[in-house]
Amino acid sequence: MCGIVGYIGNKDVKEILLSGLDTLEYRGYDSAGIYITDEKNQGHLFKEKGRIAALRDKVDESINAYSGIGHTRWATHGVPSVENAHPHQSTSGRFTIVHNGVIENFEEVKDAYLADVHFHSTTDTEVIVQLIAWFVESEELDTIDAFKKAIVTLKGSYALALVDNENPDTLYAAKNKSPLLLGTGEGFNVISSDAMAMVRETSQFIELMDGEVATLTKDSIKIEDLAGETIERDSYTAHIDANDLGKGTYPYYMIKEIDEQPAVMRKLVQQYQNEDGNLEINEDILAEVKESDRVYIVACGTSYNAGWVGKQLIERITGTPAEVHLASEFAYNTPLLTKKPFFIFLSQSGETADSRQVLVQVNKAGYPSLTLTNVPGSTLSREAKYTLLLHAGPEIAVASTKAYTAQIAVLAILAECVAKFNGVDSPLDVAHELGIIANAIETVIDDHEVFEHLSVTHLSTSKNAFYIGRGIDYYVVMEAALKLKEVSYVQAEGWASGELKHGTIALIEDNTPVISIITDEVSGPHTRGNAHEVISRGANSMIISMEGLDRQEDAYVLPKVHDLLTPLISVIPTQLIAYYTALHRGNDVDKPRNLAKSVTVE
Ligand code: F6R
Repeated sequence: MCGIVGYIGNKDVKEILLSGLDTLEYRGYDSAGIYITDEKNQGHLFKEKGRIAALRDKVDESINAYSGIGHTRWATHGVPSVENAHPHQSTSGRFTIVHNGVIENFEEVKDAYLADVHFHSTTDTEVIVQLIAWFVESEELDTIDAFKKAIVTLKGSYALALVDNENPDTLYAAKNKSPLLLGTGEGFNVISSDAMAMVRETSQFIELMDGEVATLTKDSIKIEDLAGETIERDSYTAHIDANDLGKGTYPYYMIKEIDEQPAVMRKLVQQYQNEDGNLEINEDILAEVKESDRVYIVACGTSYNAGWVGKQLIERITGTPAEVHLASEFAYNTPLLTKKPFFIFLSQSGETADSRQVLVQVNKAGYPSLTLTNVPGSTLSREAKYTLLLHAGPEIAVASTKAYTAQIAVLAILAECVAKFNGVDSPLDVAHELGIIANAIETVIDDHEVFEHLSVTHLSTSKNAFYIGRGIDYYVVMEAALKLKEVSYVQAEGWASGELKHGTIALIEDNTPVISIITDEVSGPHTRGNAHEVISRGANSMIISMEGLDRQEDAYVLPKVHDLLTPLISVIPTQLIAYYTALHRGNDVDKPRNLAKSVTVE
C-alpha cells in the first residue's frame, strides 16, 4: 500500500510526479504529497489530505523543478491528515523522505535515538527521516552511510525515496519487502512503486532488491549492498501500453474492466496456444504438478475466491487433490502438509504481503511454487519458481473483476495441460469452451440495463443482502458478496444456501435482498427450494439461473456454458450489480473508502 515516485532529470518534474501518483492512486488515497527542488536548489513541499486532484490544486504551477519525490498514502500509522501526509522531513528540513510499508520497531527506535526530537506527525515514517538526520548530525556520517545505518536499524517493510537538500542532484532509494523499481532514460532516472506509473517516461526498468541502496543522478544509477559492494543489474523492458492506463470513454475503470473480460478470455487462449493450436504450458511446471500429491492454493480476497473455483478445476480435471488457503491465516497457522506439496499463489498484483509471507516460508522449505499474476516482474512472480501470466491488461479499479475471471481461465488451462501431460482425458476442451464463454459474457454485458434495474429494485436502500448458492455456485456467491460489500458498502454475505436454516435465516425479514445463483443441475433445485424458504419470510428474492435450469420466476437467465466453467459467466451479473449499486448510491466506484488495490502490508 502507498505509492511512491521520484524523478531527477531534464524535464519539469511537477506533472511527471503528479501523473505518476495519479496512476499509483490505486495503492491508497488517504493523502498525497510531493517535494520538488527548483533551479535554484530551493525545496518546495506540497501535501494535501485526500486525492491527488486536491494536491494538484495546491501545487504552485510557477515553480520550475527538475527533481522530486512524491507519495500517495494508505494510512497505517496515524489518521489521514496533512500532518501525516508524506513526504516527511527531518526537523532541520535537510532530509525529506517518502515511504511505502510499515516500520515495526519505530517506537523502540524513537526511544533509543530520538527521545529529544520533536515529531510533527504520528507516522512511523517520520522516525526514518529523523533517524537519518540524527546519524548525520550526531555521528557525522555522510548521507549514504546514514541511510544505510538507518536501514540496518529499522525492522519492517519499506520502499523509500530520500532527498538531501545539501546534495539535491541526487536521489536515494532502498527497499525491504515493499516493491520498488528504478527507471532509466536519456538524461533522467526515476523511482517508482510500479512500472505503470512511469511508463509515460520510460519502458526501461531495473529491479531494486531487498537490502540494496540506490543512488540516482540524472545521468547515472548506482546500486550497492549494505556492505558497499557495487551491484550490476541489467534493465528490462516493461511491455505496458500507456493507452491501456486511461479510462477511454468509460466513466469508471470498473465498468471498463468488466467490459474487457470477453477480450481477456480470447487473449488467454491465444497466449497459451502453440503453433498447432493446442494449449501449452512449460513442461517443468506440469512435471512438478504431476509429481506432487496435493496442490495448495494460497491467496487473499478475490484471488482467494478464484482459488476455490481453481480447486474444483484441478481436482475434477487432473484428479489431484487441492486445498485453498487464506494467505494471512496460512502464514501463522500452517496446516499439516502432505509429503509432496505444490503451491500455487494467486495474486493479481503479485505484491500482496500476506501471500508473499507464505511464499518466503515455502521457498525456505524448498517446495515448488507457481505464481499466477497479472504483473510480470512483480515480487511474487520473481520469488516463485514459476510464473503464469493473466494477460488481463492493467487492472486499475480497486475492485478486481477481470483478474478474477482471468485467474479461473488460466487455472482451467493449467488443469487441462496437466491432465494431458499425465495421459488423462480432460473432460472439456478448455480453448473451445473459453471461446464460447467470451461470447456468453458479451451477451450478459449487453444486458447491463437489466442489472442496473435489478440493483435499483433490490439494493438501492437496503443495508444488508445475501447471495446464496451451492457447490460451484457457492464459490461464486462468496466473490459476489465481496464485490458488493467493497464498492456499494452494503453488508453482504455469500452463503452456502443449505446453511441458511442452520442460523443465518434468522436475519431474513421483509425486503431483505437474497440473490440466488443456480447453474448446477444437481444442487440447483435445492437452492431454488432455499430461495422459496426466504421468500416465505419476506425476502426480496432475485434468482439468476442458467439456461436449462430456469423458471418463469427468474430475474435473469444466463447463456449455457460448460458445467466446470459456469463461474466465468455467473460472476458477471454480480459484478454489474455491485457496480450499479455503488453508482446509484453515489460512491466512488473505482476507489472505495478505506481500501487500496495493492495490499503490501500484512
Ligand atoms: C477485491 C480485491 C482484493 C484482492 C486482494 C488480493 O476486489 O481486489 O480482495 O483480490 O487484496 O490481491 P492480489 O490478487 O493482488 O493478491
